[in-house]
Amino acid sequence: MFEPLFLRLGAWLLSPKVRYSRSGYRLRALMQPAHGEDVIDAAVMLLAVNGVRGDVAEFGVFEGRSLLHLWHAHRWVEHLIVDGVVPILAGADPSCLRRVLYGFDSFEGLPEPTEVLDGQPDWMGRGSFAAGEAGVRAELRRNGVPDQSAVLVPGWFDDSLTAEQGPEQVALAHIDCDLYESTAVALQWLAPRLVDGAILIFDDWWLYRGRPDRGEQRAFAEFRAAHPELAFVELLRSTTVSFLVHRNDG
Ligand SMILES: C[S@@+](CC[C@H](N)C(=O)[O-])C[C@H]1O[C@@H](n2cnc3c(N)ncnc32)[C@H](O)[C@@H]1O
Repeated sequence: MFEPLFLRLGAWLLSPKVRYSRSGYRLRALMQPAHGEDVIDAAVMLLAVNGVRGDVAEFGVFEGRSLLHLWHAHRWVEHLIVDGVVPILAGADPSCLRRVLYGFDSFEGLPEPTEVLDGQPDWMGRGSFAAGEAGVRAELRRNGVPDQSAVLVPGWFDDSLTAEQGPEQVALAHIDCDLYESTAVALQWLAPRLVDGAILIFDDWWLYRGRPDRGEQRAFAEFRAAHPELAFVELLRSTTVSFLVHRNDG
């Protein structure tokens, strides 16, 4: 029987011979979003449904891939609302999606891990993930992100995460800085800024073989214990792990 050409093409592309070929892997890597990006999409949509206001803070920018995704996710959800594509979003206010994205990074790569807790594979040593701020800015501009919508804050978190720096209210925090110490500093800075209904995404939850006494997991456990004014509800668990935040202090 006659099969339309596009169906035959689809079947060929999905066949094991093509899927698992060298070019197939490349194609899939190019076309499939990382799981973390799906979680960002879901988080941005949920914040819109819940009408949560505040800005976005990313800790660990590297070349700007996830920062750019955060931007596109906001534009996508805005489009869903404005064009009435998804009924559940019908009552959502698109103005809450006009968030400023703050990207914190040394732009010199990872710091020297000073904690035995951060003992990690060789590819994660000092200077790994070094990418210049100028390159990230150029990539953002190439993708149509206005400079005032994405603020890049260079420096080691110990120096750059000051009381004056960054937004007063954070609706979405993307924590992608690999190390226990870096995560601990970022969370400490976030504590007074997280709004009720905010979402925290941990990109590196499963590093260190998923050990709860290492990396982001340890930093979060300590942070949680030290901040009874904040309650956390687990949201999504995949290659990343995310939590909804409730404030008990007003
Ligand atoms: C895995 S990369 C981030 C990946 C990025 N989100 C992406 O989508 O490609 C981790 C980043 O965290 C930054 N970083 C980690 N600890 C830091 C610290 N204490 N101060 C400043 N930057 C830090 C590194 O410079 C590095 O760019």
